[in-house]
Amino acid sequence: MANTEKNLSCIKNIILVASGKGGVGKSTTSLNLALSLQVLGKSVGILDADIYGPSQRKMLGIPNEVKPEVLENNEIVPIEHHGLKAMSAAFLSDEKAPMVWRGPMAVRALQQMLTLTKWGQLDFLIIDMPPGTGDIHISLAQQFNISAAIVVTTPQIISEIDARKAIEMLIKVKIPIMGIVENMASFTCPHCREESRIFGDGAASRLASDYQIPTLASLPLMQEIQENADNGVPSITQIEGSEASDAYLSLAAKVIARSYNKPDDTSKSVNISIV
Ligand SMILES: Nc1ncnc2c1ncn2[C@@H]1O[C@H](COP(=O)(O)OP(=O)(O)OP(=O)(O)O)[C@@H](O)[C@H]1O
Ligand SMILES: [Mg+2]
Repeated sequence: MANTEKNLSCIKNIILVASGKGGVGKSTTSLNLALSLQVLGKSVGILDADIYGPSQRKMLGIPNEVKPEVLENNEIVPIEHHGLKAMSAAFLSDEKAPMVWRGPMAVRALQQMLTLTKWGQLDFLIIDMPPGTGDIHISLAQQFNISAAIVVTTPQIISEIDARKAIEMLIKVKIPIMGIVENMASFTCPHCREESRIFGDGAASRLASDYQIPTLASLPLMQEIQENADNGVPSITQIEGSEASDAYLSLAAKVIARSYNKPDDTSKSVNISIV
């Protein structure tokens, strides 16, 4: 078995966190889901697949000078932080330098990050996908044995339209969809405790009903989530017992319940899910 295949063969579930639209919270959800899976006793890695706009170095709070070790055979040792094994294009480049790559180069870079990283034994590898439904998504779907998907949307119709495109793309590439995560679904006023659905209502339930897929989580819009993401202190590590951490833990429990754990003795390719 080639080393690259070996690196993936020790991963029981690979979960891609995807959406059609940018800025809906894929990276924030990926990281907090990864950490919640860990809280629930799983060994977890996170791969930042957003080659052009990686977020995970900043969100994990990994200083710019920390670089992964690249071995003689080109395999890469992931950076371990908050107990997660992490890999991102941001670890291999300067934070301020834009990635100026044509599509095929970006696709190849992602494939290499996925297969050359020495992940070791993992119950879950969470892949934080870039926005859209482009080459990166299709090539991952075609090249790896992706088995399920979950789509992140916010409640706005504008986000729902793009989530629909992501779902249609996943159906075309024959990836079963694990479910929908509705992010920024409701806001509870910290003063009067009144709950408002300031971005509207119904996107997740319309998608769930049209495509017969479950809504796995309805995550609150919280100032702490935004501040923690921007400050590199993931929410699940900070706001134990809060509405947000409970929601992330409940999402993680559902992901575990719906995941297929590859038996150790099978030669079947790695099992990949898209969130
Ligand atoms: N539930 C939430 N409550 C408050 N802020 C949130 C929440 N989820 C995400 N955010 C904030 O929204 C912004 C966008 O989130 P994030 O970067 O995770 O989105 P994304 O979908 O990964 O974006 P991109 O498509 O650019 O990769 C960030 O500033 C993040 O802190
Ligand atoms: Mg992102």
